[in-house]
This record gives sequence, structure tokens and C-alpha cells, in this order.
Amino acid sequence: MALLEVRDLTKVFPLGESAFGGGAQGEVCAVDGVSLDIAAGETLGLVGESGSGKSTLGRLILRLIEPSSGSVRFDGQDVLAAGRAQMRRLRRDMQIVFQDPFGSLDPRMTVADIVTEPLVIHNGAARSARMATAAELLRAVGLDQSALGRYAHEFSGGQRQRIGIARALALKPRFIVADEPVSALDVSVGAQIVNLLAELQREFRLTYLFISHSMPVVRYLATRIAVMQRGKIVEVGPTEQVTTRPQHPYTRSLLEATPELRT
Ligand SMILES: Nc1ncnc2c1ncn2[C@@H]1O[C@H](COP(=O)(O)OP(=O)(O)OP(=O)(O)O)[C@@H](O)[C@H]1O
Ligand SMILES: [Mg+2]
Repeated sequence: MALLEVRDLTKVFPLGESAFGGGAQGEVCAVDGVSLDIAAGETLGLVGESGSGKSTLGRLILRLIEPSSGSVRFDGQDVLAAGRAQMRRLRRDMQIVFQDPFGSLDPRMTVADIVTEPLVIHNGAARSARMATAAELLRAVGLDQSALGRYAHEFSGGQRQRIGIARALALKPRFIVADEPVSALDVSVGAQIVNLLAELQREFRLTYLFISHSMPVVRYLATRIAVMQRGKIVEVGPTEQVTTRPQHPYTRSLLEATPELRT
């Protein structure tokens, strides 16, 4: 059985008011009948151009937004039917790493407080236990212990992304949605973060949904790749197959945008 099972997931957003007057301008189907499985321990890469619905799909899976229809099962549990207590437990297991390591960290909090905040929210851990956990989390993401008492704004983009990853790991999740985690970083710094995610996957037996518009980045990390176009998954398959023998014209166009892959 897959760790995550998504069936016919759909999200329709109402379109906003027109700047030129007139009422609501209809609706947009951001995610349109998506079904996919993710096995425990694998990385499903999700690629597609801007606006294709990747982030919306990731947020629906974590139930950060409610779908219009469809189902999400995590480890056999119906995520969308979960009540408060069950959802609290599920949230420990399912975490997110965001694209923007600047906006997603509170500048007024120390690194120790940022990475252990989820522990406070979920089980009110004692301060001494939290500090031990914070030190352990920093070690896991390759940051020096001296970072603990400093503030997020004192760090570079790559370091901030490590802090964001440490925070996502605090509750020992099994599944992480990484939504463009390296898109805001320089290529070399991004490569270090991708390597870190791969190491953490081995160390903590993580399962990833890795969202990116970049085929080279996805290819490096993904076991399988799903290609999204206008709300739909148009192709899904093992990484090697999708990158060397793409079946869908849209996948071919994404690969043509990165010619170094067509060797
Ligand atoms: N809260 C919202 N309200 C209305 N429309 C939305 C909302 N969130 C997303 N959309 C629309 O849904 C579609 C998909 O957006 P989404 O952010 O999921 O795309 P994406 O593939 O993640 O793009 P990007 O690569 O730019 O991050 C877009 O047309 C977007 O405008
Ligand atoms: Mg997005």
C-alpha cells in the first residue's frame, strides 16, 4: 500500500473581481481530477510551469486548503474526513518546506525557538528538552550550534532554508512536501540543499513530494516524476523513463527548455 494515495483531487477557485468593474469572473480549476500514489521512502518529483497547480496540489494534500472534491489517504487514514484530534496527529507526520526562506521564518524569534516551536504547539515540551532537540536538529541540517541563540535575519538564504528544514523535521514527520525549496537560492547553494534533503531522507526514512519547475533539480532527487499541466497530471513514471523517453508533448517541451538533459 502506498503511504499517500490521492484520488480525483480537484480544487476550483473563484476568480477575483475584475479591475475593470464587473462582478466575479467565473472560476479557475487549479487542480483538476488528480490521482497519484507515493510509496514510503520514495521521492515523487512534481514539475510543471508556473500556474500549473503544483503548490495548490501540495497544499491540498496537507489539508492546508480544503479541496472541492476528491480524497487523500495517508497511511490508510482519510485525511479529509479527519476530525481535530486526528488531524493534529496527522500534522505531525506531514510537514512542508517552503520556497521562500526569508518570508517563512519569524525574524523576531531565535533559531532555537523557530525550530522547536512545533514541539511547543504539539506537546508543550519542557525548555531543557527543547534545547536538546534544537541542538540535534541543527546538527542534522549541518548548522553550527552557535546558531541557536541568533535570529533568522542574521543568516544567508541557504542557511535560512536549513533552519526551515530543521523546523519541518522537529516533529519527526514521515512525509514532507518541499515546495520549490531551492528556487530562491543560487545554483550551488541550491545543490547543497538538495544534497541535504537526500541525506535527511536516508537518515530519517522520509518520503517527499518535491515540487519544482526545474527538470535537472527534480531529476537528481526524484524516484518518479509527475508532470503537471493546467491542473492535470499529464505524465507520470520513473525518473529515467520520463527524462529520456517522455511520452507527452508537454513533458518534451519542458525537457527541451533544459537541453543538457537530452544526452
Ligand atoms: N488562493 C487562490 N485563489 C484564487 N486562485 C488561486 C489561489 N491559489 C492559486 N490560484 C490559482 O490556481 C492556479 C495554480 O496556482 P499554483 O500556485 O498552484 O501554481 P504553481 O504550479 O504552484 O505555480 P508556480 O510555479 O508559479 O509556483 C493559478 O491559476 C493560480 O492563479
Ligand atoms: Mg507554486
